[in-house]
Amino acid sequence: MNTGALRHLISTNDLTDDELVSLVERGAEFSSASLRSGGHLSGLVAGILFLKTSTRTRTSFSAAALRLGAQIVSFGPGDLQTNTGETLEDTAAVLSGMLDLLVVRTSGDPADLRALASQQRMAVVNAMTADEHPTQAVADLVTLLRRFGRIEGLRICYVGEGNNTAAALALTLSRFKGVHLELRTPPGYGLDPAVLRAAEANAARSGATLAEFHTMDGAADGFDAIYTTRWQTTGTSKPDPEWRTVFAPFQVTAALWDRSPEAVFLHDLPAHRGEDVTAEVLDGPHSVAFDQAENKMYAAMAVLEWCAGRR
Ligand code: CP
Repeated sequence: MNTGALRHLISTNDLTDDELVSLVERGAEFSSASLRSGGHLSGLVAGILFLKTSTRTRTSFSAAALRLGAQIVSFGPGDLQTNTGETLEDTAAVLSGMLDLLVVRTSGDPADLRALASQQRMAVVNAMTADEHPTQAVADLVTLLRRFGRIEGLRICYVGEGNNTAAALALTLSRFKGVHLELRTPPGYGLDPAVLRAAEANAARSGATLAEFHTMDGAADGFDAIYTTRWQTTGTSKPDPEWRTVFAPFQVTAALWDRSPEAVFLHDLPAHRGEDVTAEVLDGPHSVAFDQAENKMYAAMAVLEWCAGRR
């Protein structure tokens, strides 16, 4: 069993500024060939519990654990007795006697994660809830750090729904001095006001700036990165049958590069070419979306190492 001090990672708010920077820098370090395998997690067993679909997050955490010497036990949506009424607290009490880490994507309710983290023998990692996708943000910041050599001072334009990816991005980027984050979210699909307030408070403290608009008109120029996500966030649906009409002006097209010719394109994926982004952009020279996906594994390595108390 693990002997270090376990830490849960349910929200980016669980991290101090220094811990966030340390995780991002460590993720970038893991991208170096010499660190892509090793015994950093030897002797540990990680549970990988995904009740919702995932290509990147599930694989990145599984591969990260295996590459760092841990063993994994995978659970899909039909596997646990939670399906027959066992509580998450009882499940956590049992699993924590056998596992050191548990990476979880459940129904999306953040309370599920808090219930699983109601013990201190097994570190719980949020692999996406309805409100936040914290490990995606770590991977996104690793991508920016690797690309620009810094995060401070970057100008980022986020286009699309104010979803869990946007929330984690806003809550983390706003901690870096000089960052300007401009969010262009469809009307009615903006950031949760509480998240926006929290990000604004971070920005006031750090010296970042943050602005949300519900139109694509009047967008600033000179961005270092333009970021979007899929319109149908995993595990969600939109009751308004006309929602595509509302989202249509927020498609990321090559025209956005007229005023930000040096910007890289980021996408947490999966993308829907012709919907949230054109194929020309996703497959074009500015796109680092597939590097960003690979960085999820390096971010996962850093997160597992930190949650296991091995660093
Ligand atoms: N970006 C992301 O979370 O991808 P998956 O849903 O495939 O894990």
